[in-house]
Amino acid sequence: MSEEKKAAGATPAKATLVDHPLVQHKLTIMRNKETSTASFRRLLREISLLLCYEVTRDLELTTTRIETPLVPMEAPTLEGKKLVFASVLRAGNGLLEGMLDLVPAARVAHIGLYRDHDTLEAVEYYFKAPQDLGDRLVIVVDPMLATANSAIAAVDRLKRRGATNLRFLCLLAAPEGIKRFNAAHPDVPIFTAAIDSHLNDKGYIVPGLGDAGDRMYGTK
Ligand code: PRP
Ligand code: URA
Repeated sequence: MSEEKKAAGATPAKATLVDHPLVQHKLTIMRNKETSTASFRRLLREISLLLCYEVTRDLELTTTRIETPLVPMEAPTLEGKKLVFASVLRAGNGLLEGMLDLVPAARVAHIGLYRDHDTLEAVEYYFKAPQDLGDRLVIVVDPMLATANSAIAAVDRLKRRGATNLRFLCLLAAPEGIKRFNAAHPDVPIFTAAIDSHLNDKGYIVPGLGDAGDRMYGTK
């Protein structure tokens, strides 16, 4: 894992890059346009386990008294209330499933957003989240951070519902999106498996992997 600070105009773009070789290898297969829908979904689930490991690396621990078959011991256990994973629909669900494999007790929020194809603005169509967001770490998951309109809208919404401790986890990020997200939510760290070159004139990440939702669900 490495901390990337790329100069982009006056504001530095800041994100943590998860550069584990297994993540990078799987991501390359996902980028390939010949990769099937079934393989794309499987790889996204596999990568999400590795990304979840990194985004939760510094969670605080406390101890609890247990008895092993040999002796009593003070053993480490996660401190605080259970995590919330907030999935930005549709494609966020591809990351969510693997993360729930790793943290099955996590609570889940769903935020339905789609990008208007002309304006690239995020349009909300669904929101459901646990009540007590203010007491929990909320990890927002969406494979793609392009213009950042969706990520900014998702975090705005969660903050309006009381969330104060958030992280954003994605697979691919554009430098433009990182910079805009940093400016809108400087308190929310970004974790990503890759920072690509740029956005094209339709707001797609280049080189990217195409439309994540369409590739996951075979809708194009
Ligand atoms: C994709 C992706 C993000 C968003 C990123 O979703 O999953 O949510 O685009 O783009 P942005 O950073 O420019 O907002 P999309 O709107 O295609 O919806 P879908 O997941 O339902 O296909
Ligand atoms: N959403 C996607 O799914 N892909 C992109 O490249 C940009 C936004």
